Amino acid sequence: MRYFEDLTPSTGAREPRAWLRSSRPRLSLNGRWQFRLWPTAPDGEPRPDGWGELEVPGHWVLQGHDRPRYTNTAFPFPIDPPYAPDANPTGDHFRWFDLPDNWPADGAVLRFEGVDSCFKVWVNGVEAGTAKGSRLPSEFTVGHLLRPGRNSLAVRVHQWSSGSYLEDQDMWWLPGIFRDVTLLARPLIDDVFVHASYDHLTGAGTLRVETVVEGAPDAVVRVPELGVVAEPGVPVTVPVVEPWSAELPRLYDATVEVPGETVELRIGFRTVAMVDGVFTANGRPLFFRGVNRHEHDERRGRAMTVEAMRQDLVLMKQHNVNAVRTAHYPPHPAFLDLCDELGLWVIDECDIETHGFIYTDWRGNPADDPAWAPMMLDRMRRMVERDKNHPSVVIWSLANESHRGRNFGELAAWTRDRDPGRAVFYERDRTYEFSDFYSLMYPPLEDLEAIGTRTEDVPEETAGDPSLEARRRALPFVLAEYAHAMGNGPGGLADYQRILERYPRLQGGFLWEWIDHGLLLPGATDHVYGGDFGEQLHGANFCIDGLLFPDRTPSPGLTEYKKVIEPVRITGPDPLVVHNHRTFTGVDDLEFLWSVAEDGVEVDAGRLDVPDVPPGESIELGLVLPASSGVERVLTVRAVLAKDEAWATAGHEVAWAQFVLEEPAVVAVPAGPVVESGDVLRLGGGEFDRSTGRLTRLFGQEVDGPVLDLWRAPTDNDNGQGGRNGVTQEWRAAGLDRLLHRVDTVDVVDDELVVRTRVAPEGLGVGVRTTYRWSADEDVLRLTVDVEPEGEWGGTAVTPRCGSWPRVGVRMTLPQAMEKVRWYGGGPGEAYADSREAARVGLYTRTVDDLQTPYVVPQENGARVDVRWAELTDAEGNGVRVTGAPHFQLTARRWTTEDLEAARHRSDLTPRDHIYLNLDLAQTGLGSASCGPAATAPHILEVAPYTFTLHFRPVPSPDPRTKAD
Ligand code: GAL
Repeated sequence: MRYFEDLTPSTGAREPRAWLRSSRPRLSLNGRWQFRLWPTAPDGEPRPDGWGELEVPGHWVLQGHDRPRYTNTAFPFPIDPPYAPDANPTGDHFRWFDLPDNWPADGAVLRFEGVDSCFKVWVNGVEAGTAKGSRLPSEFTVGHLLRPGRNSLAVRVHQWSSGSYLEDQDMWWLPGIFRDVTLLARPLIDDVFVHASYDHLTGAGTLRVETVVEGAPDAVVRVPELGVVAEPGVPVTVPVVEPWSAELPRLYDATVEVPGETVELRIGFRTVAMVDGVFTANGRPLFFRGVNRHEHDERRGRAMTVEAMRQDLVLMKQHNVNAVRTAHYPPHPAFLDLCDELGLWVIDECDIETHGFIYTDWRGNPADDPAWAPMMLDRMRRMVERDKNHPSVVIWSLANESHRGRNFGELAAWTRDRDPGRAVFYERDRTYEFSDFYSLMYPPLEDLEAIGTRTEDVPEETAGDPSLEARRRALPFVLAEYAHAMGNGPGGLADYQRILERYPRLQGGFLWEWIDHGLLLPGATDHVYGGDFGEQLHGANFCIDGLLFPDRTPSPGLTEYKKVIEPVRITGPDPLVVHNHRTFTGVDDLEFLWSVAEDGVEVDAGRLDVPDVPPGESIELGLVLPASSGVERVLTVRAVLAKDEAWATAGHEVAWAQFVLEEPAVVAVPAGPVVESGDVLRLGGGEFDRSTGRLTRLFGQEVDGPVLDLWRAPTDNDNGQGGRNGVTQEWRAAGLDRLLHRVDTVDVVDDELVVRTRVAPEGLGVGVRTTYRWSADEDVLRLTVDVEPEGEWGGTAVTPRCGSWPRVGVRMTLPQAMEKVRWYGGGPGEAYADSREAARVGLYTRTVDDLQTPYVVPQENGARVDVRWAELTDAEGNGVRVTGAPHFQLTARRWTTEDLEAARHRSDLTPRDHIYLNLDLAQTGLGSASCGPAATAPHILEVAPYTFTLHFRPVPSPDPRTKAD
């Protein structure tokens, strides 16, 4: 059997050990390598002739050779373990390097941080070894193969191997040497295992550092700041230390020294433990406000730069995220250093996922085949050994979505034995016998609630085993994945958070997922996803499901998450209360600022005196507000950083709240006459077509009148997963995407123009009676729309039920020059019924182009909620102001809903010569049905009668403040 197909994890590789910063010489072998791609695995040794070049670390499929491939669960080769297909793209990599003159003569180690998926190494033409395990390090002893001066290094990388059966994560298949390659002078200190615990009762820290030193000469452990000078293996107790936590990531610099080598460490004292079914750190229950993070860079794939890693973590910290699950493999080791430094709790997950075996009904699943145990255990060992010194890592995860299997028992047992100081996690074995946590993915709210109260249904898998079931039910719960951020969404975050925070058993969750995996290929402008290469088997855009767009710009979903998981809450206004939801720290790093705005304009502001509030406690504040003024007044209270932190500068906002103190007075609009002249009806500033009743001119500008609109360009979450859960099918079956409008009567009744219509889909008997009532004075036009569903929306024996509408409102067009938008209402970003916590009332100015949210796959986006009024004007400042009664939702685009729906990539959207405006009473929420539950009540817009009113007035207006809005 060929080495890339056998079940040997590696040949010639050294024992796994910690990732260490050593004083011994090192030589980076990153850079330009020579490269040649073979369609199938060649024989013999790589020889550099007629080759191209490749950047290492990197994936050849992102550098013009072959192409990337995305599947969600499917293996892109026959399921025939452990064999690889003949079509096994194989990249030969070759480079020369010069050994520095002062390179020690006592040996060397060649270290690969990550090679996908299997490789063989030659040094100066002599084979040094082979390895599998893409996201794990491998080291080879190569000193005896080196010569002074010029040396050659050749690496043959096979895309497919037996290891690929363990690497079926939902992500791009990206072969190559994608992490650093380094030549290390032979380490004298081979390994270090730091045990730094914290006793929360006494405040003492205990440090014990185990070392593996060749020839075992005496090593010395030093922590200068604590005055510690210790022997390896001997515990030293320091009476007072500052503990490490994600909130206060206190690290102490330390060294381990032997003659000839110093290893630098950064030590965090912390103790994690299970106490009465609750996972604690330093004596307090932990609560994860987490994200699942894949490594992704739009151009570099998983070949991450340290800058991008830091950027991820800074963005997480800035958005109140306190935990990361390294879905679904160990990240680049530098990432964990940054987690230690910036402060995040980490679930470090092993590079194991055998998901594609769902297509054999789990027949042959490696997780349950003892023949695969060595390969799996090798991966666990390489992760634990590499990452064991990071205080940020508190949980080891055995794998993702690999079903049940006895091999997990072996992995868990080894891990607990090797590192009793951390917990073990595995979600997919429903007995949870090897896990310290109960966990699920994407449960509906009611299931989560039941778990919180320990009243969940007994899983089938433990039903026959009372003691296993009792063990499972006693476990704390962590939501491994929820809230699928695919396209526009997720919705419902606030609902999840309320339940997660209510029950001590629920220790938080990890949102799916951090970043969209859209790739930008050389020379392209659109991000690609599955199917963009004409491949038959692919996962389409299921990997475009992140809180960051592929270029790392935060999406509205991240802004919403930040608001929902605020670690400090402000409620009020009377009384105004600050609640500290942190676990370890007070609030004296924050400054509390208040401001009062009238119609969006700040009229008063100040600073609140907030004494420190201990974690878990609240404090009431007295705030005397300015006297009433008859217009809408909004109090905003903000908690901002008082001083710079490593991840944000002073003034960065951590939490905020708004309170509407006074509603504006509503003044009736006086009625003016309707004037008929030929085919035209004139009313205030509007001109209407006599026969259709449609508004054709508004304050002298050509428009196409507001008509009822119930449709939106379905979001990924509307569509659901493979047609399951989603609402789009129901909406289409009810014909909402093909509504026709019939005008029944156009009447002038007193001073009102009344247009009665019926809006209904082709081919069905259901419909909506829609009446538009127009009235005016000289510069205000008022429209009231009555919407009355009729027919069998509830379904019949032959027609399906339609329980909701995407939206209720009107659509109209304006001249394309009216592209400047100013509004007073919710903003600055988009918001939807179940994703609107982050929308704050203010006065905002944007262009129509700015209002678009750049989802990789175009879909409904950009709605602004709670809009009191909005102005759309041209460059000269002429245009129209729309006012709600009291509020409406605003959407403006340069293309139609139908264009948006048809587009598959952003470049498919071309501006038309109008602006398309949607003025809505409401829209249905977003939900998370692309993987999880759809929007739930009360965020669903039911099929029901509705009435809403809008006012239109010209801009500039004689004096808008004196007019009723
Ligand atoms: C989960 C899985 C993830 C991802 C997600 C949907 O089941 O663990 O890897 O596929 O669903 O995007």
